[in-house]
Amino acid sequence: MPITVRDLLSFKERGERFVMLTAYDYPTARILDEAGVPVLLVGDSVGNNVLGYDTTIPVTMDEMLHHCRAVARGASNALVVGDMPFMSFHTSIQEGIANAGRFLKEGGAHAIKLERPSIEVAAAIVDRGIPVMGHIGLGPQSVHAMGGYRVQGRSEEHARKLLDEAQTLDKAGIFALVLEGIPAELAARITEAVATPTIGIGAGPHCDGQVLVINDLLGLGFGSYPKFAKPYADLRGTITGAVQAFQADVRAGTFPDEAHSYR
Ligand code: KIV
Repeated sequence: MPITVRDLLSFKERGERFVMLTAYDYPTARILDEAGVPVLLVGDSVGNNVLGYDTTIPVTMDEMLHHCRAVARGASNALVVGDMPFMSFHTSIQEGIANAGRFLKEGGAHAIKLERPSIEVAAAIVDRGIPVMGHIGLGPQSVHAMGGYRVQGRSEEHARKLLDEAQTLDKAGIFALVLEGIPAELAARITEAVATPTIGIGAGPHCDGQVLVINDLLGLGFGSYPKFAKPYADLRGTITGAVQAFQADVRAGTFPDEAHSYR
């Protein structure tokens, strides 16, 4: 049975931890879907993980929809969530609703995610029958305003502000809430205080679910990984090894051999 937004609430009610992973293309989406991952996020992190941008800021609606369609084609069971890119829901409520609708109509997504949204925009999109995942704490779209990728909510005053934001979004009817880059104790407080399931990244172990960027999980990154990301594989090393072996075979004249040639 395909996963729906209601299943995430049931996970929380049953105390069953779950995962969300980012996916940006058809084969990855298909592998993750077949591995039983319940939620696939077509994150705007496609910008720095796939498209070669330094940040998520340049990512456009057209780029997001292109990747969303590919992921939707690979997902039979998983809930597909499209991430609204920078400036696609900031200038007016109408524009936010229209762009959210495009993710469902053109992108094949089942829901959308809003990073640090105004409550008015989030509530208006929920009101149009589009499931909304919120995202608070460290918002990479605000990297310049934050002066870098910094842990948020360290002071009691800021922690209270984030708790407040979480409760307001919860009341507006979001179906899940990403908590990024906040202290574990604050994530635990928020998770306890809201009905909606929380999904943490760099937010400690007390969230209802956990999300990672697939490139980090698979060891496909360049440079060092953030403290919160755990590579479970070394695909960059595996790819490099395979490509070097192929080059060596071609140079030595051992590929293609009899088994890989036609007569
Ligand atoms: O774009 C993304 O990958 C995200 C996750 C880190 C939650 O927003």
